[in-house]
Amino acid sequence: MNYGFEGKVALVTGASGGIGRASALAFAASGASVMVSDVQDEKGAETVALIEQAGGNAAYQRCDVSNEAEVDALISATLAQFGGLDFAHNNAGINRPGSDEWTTDDWSLSIHVNLDSIMFCMRAEIAAMLERGGGAIVNTASVNGLVGNPSQPAYVASKHGVVGITRSAALRYAKEGIRVNAICPGVVDTPMVEQIAKIPQYRAAMEAMTPMGRMAKPEEMASAVLWLCSDQASFVTGHPLVVDGGATAI
Ligand SMILES: NC(=O)c1ccc[n+]([C@@H]2O[C@H](COP(=O)([O-])OP(=O)(O)OC[C@H]3O[C@@H](n4cnc5c(N)ncnc54)[C@H](O)[C@@H]3O)[C@@H](O)[C@H]2O)c1
Repeated sequence: MNYGFEGKVALVTGASGGIGRASALAFAASGASVMVSDVQDEKGAETVALIEQAGGNAAYQRCDVSNEAEVDALISATLAQFGGLDFAHNNAGINRPGSDEWTTDDWSLSIHVNLDSIMFCMRAEIAAMLERGGGAIVNTASVNGLVGNPSQPAYVASKHGVVGITRSAALRYAKEGIRVNAICPGVVDTPMVEQIAKIPQYRAAMEAMTPMGRMAKPEEMASAVLWLCSDQASFVTGHPLVVDGGATAI
């Protein structure tokens, strides 16, 4: 689907692989200039190269989204490079199965990287979008933003927080031309789940968890992100869009 985003500027965090790379490639394929951001510089450069090979326009800026100053510098770099900001996909995140999220350190890390970052990013992005007269933001939450998980209280709380701040920002800017939505992916075949899924029985178990019997492809998340940013979703704001192959329908 080509949404005709020529002349528009999109920013994607966590765009060195997985969902973020698919989203960056999709924005570029629809004509937007894309600021690709991550902390994995080589893979980020690979995303830019893939976009350029396909005839698109992109640049890379390193940014640790849990660092306020780096986030502000990322938005400044985007404005300097492309002259404005229309769309932002705040996607960077961590999920560390096996860590003990009932300890203060593990709890704090998840909340800081997955939730504080969304506030830092949206605050700077919205200021830039207001200059442009509007925009659209999509935050990557998770089905873990809607249901609980006994072994991952911090990941779950951080993603519930992403849904909450998405709704709050949507309400605050509803009359100012900025729509704010979230996607809630189920299990997606990305580097994040690769570590767990490379053991065949775990892959089978993860696939069996989903009524459709398979993991999602990252491109299936990118489709949702682009639709939410497009004029086709012009009356959609504050919505956590579940894209999970039926996992939360059970
Ligand atoms: N894969 C899944 O099954 C799944 C399901 C639900 C939600 N999600 C969410 O989707 C998002 C993308 O994950 P993915 O599955 O594509 O995995 P991924 O590991 O491929 O992507 C996450 C990206 O975020 C980057 N990142 C991590 N910490 C960062 C930081 N502090 N600053 C900047 N970048 C940072 C990583 O380098 C990586 O490129 C995450 O927010 C994740 O929680 C994933």
